[in-house]
Amino acid sequence: MSTGARTGAVAVRDLHHAFARGRGTADVPVFAGLDLSVEDGEFLAVVGPSGCGKSTLLRMLAGLLQPLAGSATVGGRDVLGRPGAVAFMPQKDNLLPWRRALGNAVLGAEISGVPRAEARARALPLFERFGLVGFERAWPAQLSGGMRQRLALLRTFLLDQPVLLLDEPFGALDAITRRSMQTWLQDVWSADRRTVVFVTHDVEEALWLADRVVVLSGRPGRVVAELQVTRARPRALDLVTDPAFVAQRAEVLAALGG
Ligand SMILES: Nc1ncnc2c1ncn2[C@@H]1O[C@H](COP(=O)(O)OP(=O)(O)OP(=O)(O)O)[C@@H](O)[C@H]1O
Ligand SMILES: [Mg+2]
Repeated sequence: MSTGARTGAVAVRDLHHAFARGRGTADVPVFAGLDLSVEDGEFLAVVGPSGCGKSTLLRMLAGLLQPLAGSATVGGRDVLGRPGAVAFMPQKDNLLPWRRALGNAVLGAEISGVPRAEARARALPLFERFGLVGFERAWPAQLSGGMRQRLALLRTFLLDQPVLLLDEPFGALDAITRRSMQTWLQDVWSADRRTVVFVTHDVEEALWLADRVVVLSGRPGRVVAELQVTRARPRALDLVTDPAFVAQRAEVLAALGG
């Protein structure tokens, strides 16, 4: 970067939002003054009850949804209503069934204006890193669930933005595939340590992957607990049996239950 400054710091200030439910019914309050900061290069996991506003928060950071009030910046720049400043992987993988794996991989880059040939040239080496070599010409329907998620992640990483927003990327996977995907994500993320906001329902996954875990309350979502995870990386799978880890898991579960 020309200034030498890193630009992946995220700041959410006093966010307010409510969804209208229709005439005669009260609005659904989602945020009533949410504050959240993510340091540049930090891996933040966000957990919270279903419907508390996690996906809504990511859609706002991705510039796809305007809150009623408040601010959200990345690297000090306003991102509200400005799509394209961050790389966003929505809760559904959104792979287009009529595009091959490579065509899907470059979709986001193409939409953001990168010429197709250049996007393809940048995507192809990533197929190796994302364990998809040999499947460049496969249709999404020919990929396993884990491969589809890796392809959706490849597309997100390819966007080359300083911030990655990942909405339950492994939510639909079985426990074994999920474990191997967590290890794999740790590896690919460690290569350049971009800022990550990772939404998950899985408390172990959150603690195992993240530098910090934030627990949101039920609607309107606010931060009810925050835990630092200071373990060195790479983290081993059996970390989950470590007493300190188990204690943190209990703390998160208590915050979720409270
Ligand atoms: N486009 C919308 N129109 C109306 N209500 C919405 C819309 N999007 C979300 N909501 C409501 O806002 C609340 C928060 O939804 P959101 O999808 O952000 O929750 P979530 O924390 O991601 O839940 P989950 O863990 O189940 O994915 C829910 O009550 C939901 O019904
Ligand atoms: Mg959601």
